[in-house]
Amino acid sequence: MSGASLPSPPARQRFRRALLGWYRRNGRDLPWRRTSDPYHILVSEVMLQQTQVDRVLPKYHEWLDKYPSLEALAAAPEDDVADSWRPLGYNIRPRRLHAIARESMARYGGRLPSDQETLLSFKGIGAYTAGAIRSFAFRERAAILDTNVARVLFRVFVRRGDPKAHAMRKHLWAVSETVVPHKHVFDFNQALMDLGATVCVARKPKCGVCPMTKLCRSFPWREPRSRG
Ligand code: ADE
Repeated sequence: MSGASLPSPPARQRFRRALLGWYRRNGRDLPWRRTSDPYHILVSEVMLQQTQVDRVLPKYHEWLDKYPSLEALAAAPEDDVADSWRPLGYNIRPRRLHAIARESMARYGGRLPSDQETLLSFKGIGAYTAGAIRSFAFRERAAILDTNVARVLFRVFVRRGDPKAHAMRKHLWAVSETVVPHKHVFDFNQALMDLGATVCVARKPKCGVCPMTKLCRSFPWREPRSRG
């Protein structure tokens, strides 16, 4: 993938404009989009790592009622925190969230750190979640790449090759870093996720309502022939 080119400045501009315009009309109104409280963003993104939006919504509110701040979460016993998470599945995420809260209290003055390196040093925060926290909570020009975003960027800007290959993943990170604007980073990254979740879906993408048809290398979409 080393020879693959990045979107030109005019292509970036057109993509940003089309995406933000579409988001203003069609973006989902989700509670974590009405806040830039770093702790609230952290909770939502950790919940959304493996759980669908619809299932996260009630849990997100319940969680914040019970643990309204990093301080409250850090002060709670770990097993209680794990129990509170139980309806979202039996897994390691609540314990990691709890450890992040404790470490933020102990080492970072009760605040969630904002720099990439420190965020990545927490177990439970990978490159995607670090980018989400930086762009949503701290409004920094940080890129994100999850499955939905990777699919959108691959289709619009790449089209050929193996979307799952390691080198492609690296290239798509570079594309995401290139297209993310200096302003409106919050809306732009939320919009990328929404386009992937609601229009540029894996099977039968809804190209008829997509704002990217004029720029998209994969338009008109043809369903890949199944190999089985
Ligand atoms: N999945 C992961 N993060 C998300 C967000 N902020 N909004 C909607 N879906 C998401």
